[in-house]
Amino acid sequence: MNIFELSNIKYAYPDNTVALNDVSFNIALGEQVVILGANGSGKSTLLSILGGLIYVDSGIIKAFGESLNEDILNQPDFRKYFRQNIGFIFQDSDIQLFCPTVYDEIAFGPLQLGIPKDEVIKRTNDVINLLGISNLKGRSPVGLSGGEKKKVAIGSVLSINPSVLIFDEPTSGLDPRSQVWLIELLNELKKTGKTIITATHDLSIVEDISMRAIVLGEDHTLLVDDTAGKVLDDKDTLLKANLIHEHTHTHGNLRHIHAHGHFLGHLHHNKT
Ligand SMILES: Nc1ncnc2c1ncn2[C@@H]1O[C@H](COP(=O)(O)OP(=O)(O)OP(=O)(O)O)[C@@H](O)[C@H]1O
Ligand SMILES: [Mg+2]
Repeated sequence: MNIFELSNIKYAYPDNTVALNDVSFNIALGEQVVILGANGSGKSTLLSILGGLIYVDSGIIKAFGESLNEDILNQPDFRKYFRQNIGFIFQDSDIQLFCPTVYDEIAFGPLQLGIPKDEVIKRTNDVINLLGISNLKGRSPVGLSGGEKKKVAIGSVLSINPSVLIFDEPTSGLDPRSQVWLIELLNELKKTGKTIITATHDLSIVEDISMRAIVLGEDHTLLVDDTAGKVLDDKDTLLKANLIHEHTHTHGNLRHIHAHGHFLGHLHHNKT
C-alpha cells in the first residue's frame, strides 16, 4: 500500500519562485526514504506538501489514497486521521515548542487528540524514557540547548504515535554524539514499522537511515530515485545536484581537481 503517490507535482511560492517542478514518486507503507538536494533545491517545500501544510499548484498528490487538497484537509474526519498519522519534525525546533515545560510539550499532542488521561501520562513517560530526557521533564523548552530542543520536538511528535514521520534536516546543529543517537533512534523507529521520510544534504547519514534516496536537482526536478547505495555511487548526479563539488587548486606545480563532500580522493592529477 502506498502512503503517498505524487504525479507531476509543481509548486511555486506566491512571489513566483519555483520550488518543485514535475516531481513524481510513490512512498509505500513502512518504507524509509531520504530526500537529498542542495540548499534551495526544494526539499523543505516537498516535505511541507507531504505534511499537508501547503498545496500543489498542479499535478496530483495522494495521501492514504485521497487527493490531498484544502477541501479534504478541511473535512474533520480526514483531517484528524491525517494529523494523527503524519508527524512532522521541523528543522527549526523553536517553531515546534510552545508549552511551559518539556513534560507538557510531550503530553500536548495526545491531550489534543482526546486520549484518556491515564493513557496520556503513560505515553508521555514512555516517550521521555525512550528519548532519555527525564532530567529535562520540568524544564522550560525555551532554555534548552539546540540538541535538547530537537529531542523534545521529536518527543512531542512521537507521543502522538503517527505511522509516518517526516524529518527536515534532523542532524543539522547536532554534535557527533547526538547525530549517532538520532541515527539509532531512526533505526529503532524503522523496526517498529514506521514510514520515515528524511530530508538532508548530509550524504554521510544516508545509508545509515535509508535503503532508498531521491535526489532533487537545483532545477527543482527529480534527478534520481534509486537505492541509497546506487545514488551515493552516482558521482555525476551528485555533482549535478551540487551535493558534492569539484574545485581546482594548485599544490606546488601539481594542479588537482578535488571532489569534496563524499568522494574525498582526487579525481584527476594534471601536471601543469
Ligand atoms: N516562503 C518562500 N517564499 C518564496 N520562495 C521561497 C519560500 N520558501 C522557499 N522558497 C524558495 O523555494 C526554493 C526551494 O526552497 P526549499 O526551502 O524548499 O529548499 P531546501 O532544499 O529545503 O533548501 P535548504 O537545504 O536550504 O533547507 C528556493 O529557491 C527558495 O528560495
Ligand atoms: Mg530546507
